[in-house]
Amino acid sequence: MKEVILFGSTNLATMLYYDAAGRDDFKIACLAVEKAYLRGRTEHLGLPVVVFEEVQDLFPPDEYDMMVLFHGQPRVRERGEKFALAKGRGYLLRNYVSRGADVTPDLTMGENNIIQRGAHVGFGGTMGHDNLIRQMVYLGHEFQIGSHNTFVAGSIIGGNCTIGDHCFFGLGAIVLNWSTIASDSFIGAGSTVIKNTEPFSKNVGNPSRIIGYSHEGE
Ligand SMILES: CC(C)(COP(=O)(O)OP(=O)(O)OC[C@H]1O[C@@H](n2cnc3c(N)ncnc32)[C@H](O)[C@@H]1OP(=O)(O)O)[C@@H](O)C(=O)NCCC(=O)NCCS
Repeated sequence: MKEVILFGSTNLATMLYYDAAGRDDFKIACLAVEKAYLRGRTEHLGLPVVVFEEVQDLFPPDEYDMMVLFHGQPRVRERGEKFALAKGRGYLLRNYVSRGADVTPDLTMGENNIIQRGAHVGFGGTMGHDNLIRQMVYLGHEFQIGSHNTFVAGSIIGGNCTIGDHCFFGLGAIVLNWSTIASDSFIGAGSTVIKNTEPFSKNVGNPSRIIGYSHEGE
């Protein structure tokens, strides 16, 4: 199995480094950081840190896979942009499922999804590309999730929910079962969604109310 280049957040890369320690199926080759964010670093955790713009020359896509690691904050749409950038370089984008996560084997998913330690992913679910499922997230059964969503630690999504793209679920956010979360929705920390959300809406409180709209995509 090919080694993996981790492109993006050093924090997420560090989490994967420790979580994947000792695994034969997930060996990290290097970290790749865009020139503007490199700040003179050449090494992290004993791994080489290379300029993303030059990574193809040193670690070509026919020999290495990649993972794109972005949180989606403060710009939720940055996730999709960086994913497209890496795909455009010809890399296979790997999924990462922690051995400490409880994932039902019938899950179907695209590329570049991360499921971290302590998450529960129920049966009958599908997800697209590039979803970040942080520690202790609960994803109920029979969900349909799009791409580029961020589920921050402790968020709870009831069964049979449908979630679009570019959504952000804050710390401990709750979504009741059978809800539809429109693309580009933001759910605040500790907030409880009891009805469907509107595209680009920022929802906070219990029950949640809309406090504004983001028009990042326009
Ligand atoms: C929603 C959030 C981004 C704040 O957005 P904002 O536009 O700056 O909102 P403000 O702080 O101006 O607050 C606007 C109103 O919403 C309320 N509010 C904001 N966040 C809230 C939340 N999470 N729950 C309940 N009410 C909230 C404020 O009390 C305020 O109410 P008021 O108008 O009655 O005074 C922030 O509170 C939040 O939840 N961030 C997510 C944090 C997180 O999970 N980070 C991940 C770390 S890994």
